[in-house]
Amino acid sequence: MAGFTITVAQQKGGSGKTTLAVNLAVEFWKRGHTVAVLDTDPQGSLGRWYMARREAMNGEAGLEFATASAWGVSYELEKLLKHNEIVVVDTPPKVDSDLRPAMRASDLVVVPVAVSQVDVWATESVLEMAQRERRKTLLVLNRAAPRAKLTADISSRIQELDSPAAETMLNNRVIYAEVLGEGQGVVEKAAKGPAAVEIRTLCNEIADVLNS
Ligand SMILES: Nc1ncnc2c1ncn2[C@@H]1O[C@H](COP(=O)(O)OP(=O)(O)OP(=O)(O)O)[C@@H](O)[C@H]1O
Ligand SMILES: [Mg+2]
Repeated sequence: MAGFTITVAQQKGGSGKTTLAVNLAVEFWKRGHTVAVLDTDPQGSLGRWYMARREAMNGEAGLEFATASAWGVSYELEKLLKHNEIVVVDTPPKVDSDLRPAMRASDLVVVPVAVSQVDVWATESVLEMAQRERRKTLLVLNRAAPRAKLTADISSRIQELDSPAAETMLNNRVIYAEVLGEGQGVVEKAAKGPAAVEIRTLCNEIADVLNS
């Protein structure tokens, strides 16, 4: 696994982009890869997570971090990929021309879809842009409640969208919210917990897509 850019994108706010970005980045780093995270969202949540991480780890965050505006993404990625095997890019909740440079530079666009019909509708625009750019995409159902009928309904609706969907879904778990503020990944906070299992199996699926 070397020289891969994974962009996390979804028009719908709060779908879990930053959550996915940090947890994927930490898990790939735990696997022994060099990893950078790139925040292109002016809200700066990924940067806040990284600063919390530096503080918690006495300045040794393990991962590299950078920010970039839309037009600076490709330049920043080029720099990061000189020292990192994997770069994970977090993006703002909109699909417009500002997203295109990150998308264009990606080997895979991961699209979190929270369990709601509104999220499913919002997904079409990001898939259209990814397809225009001929990028691979992977939908990931997030905030699932395993036994709820709505989860089953939304899960079958995303199968109808024009993109592969991950077999792994992320359930609604407090630990995902906790680690954002603490600068950790779920695989660090509770390595044997169910959230860590979800993130690991999702990373296996992503590695398979990247290597295919
Ligand atoms: N699987 C989950 N279980 C529980 N809480 C979650 C889960 N995924 C995300 N959250 C919480 O939902 C909120 C929104 O998640 P997050 O910030 O990752 O979304 P986002 O898509 O990056 O939002 P924005 O569009 O504003 O950038 C956060 O408080 C986060 O902790
Ligand atoms: Mg975010």
